[in-house]
Amino acid sequence: MDKKLVEVCFTPDDYEYFKGRFEIVVVIDVLRATSAICSAIDNGVSSVIPVSTLEEARILQSKGYLAGAERQGQIVEGFDFGNSPYSYMDPKLKGKDIVLSTTNGTRAINIAKDAPVVVIGSLINLETLVNWLKKQDKNVLCLCSGWKDNFNLEDTICGGAIADELIASGYFTSNEDSSVAAKYLYHSSSHNYFGFLKSSSHRRRLKKLNLNEDIKYCLTPNQVEVIPILQNDKIVPLDY
Ligand code: MLT
Repeated sequence: MDKKLVEVCFTPDDYEYFKGRFEIVVVIDVLRATSAICSAIDNGVSSVIPVSTLEEARILQSKGYLAGAERQGQIVEGFDFGNSPYSYMDPKLKGKDIVLSTTNGTRAINIAKDAPVVVIGSLINLETLVNWLKKQDKNVLCLCSGWKDNFNLEDTICGGAIADELIASGYFTSNEDSSVAAKYLYHSSSHNYFGFLKSSSHRRRLKKLNLNEDIKYCLTPNQVEVIPILQNDKIVPLDY
């Protein structure tokens, strides 16, 4: 049986090069969008509706949806939540549909939305996601959200972890240097993500905003066993 491909794409800007060659796209935004989405789904939120612009989010909010919006790491005025995973753990949100717009993560999801399958990856659902991907017998692309189309460390490390685990299964291979680099970063950091990412640019940005608890939560692997999947422009729990 031919091995399937697993590759890591550093930024949404690079996506065009990979587009159309992968049946499964894993969108990653460790700090914090995909970690927040995994927390929301794990908490029993019915769906998360990812939108790229604040305009779209405001229109849906005016139609009665609860809506979260973050820019520059901060909650946007007039919205119900920002992008802290803790905001989505409120039991009152169970069964609700929540709109979300963030600087990078929700934009990356919308860039990838035409792929056959789009799932949500982070460190907090890493093991669950990898075990499911191993069984799909499909080509997998890890799309890192980065920061404003720039490379970031934490998303690349998460993509490297997924690529490394899939290749170690013996059913996958990769050809791109971006995937090799991501695996090396994963090998260098997996013993202590929190320590290794001390100097990451977005972590410093969030630290200045006193969001240390969010950072700790998002950098602690395997806390939830959910696989959020995009279906009809809504992110819902995959029944795996
Ligand atoms: C993003 O989408 O850029 C991030 O998730 C931003 C954040 O949560 O700080």
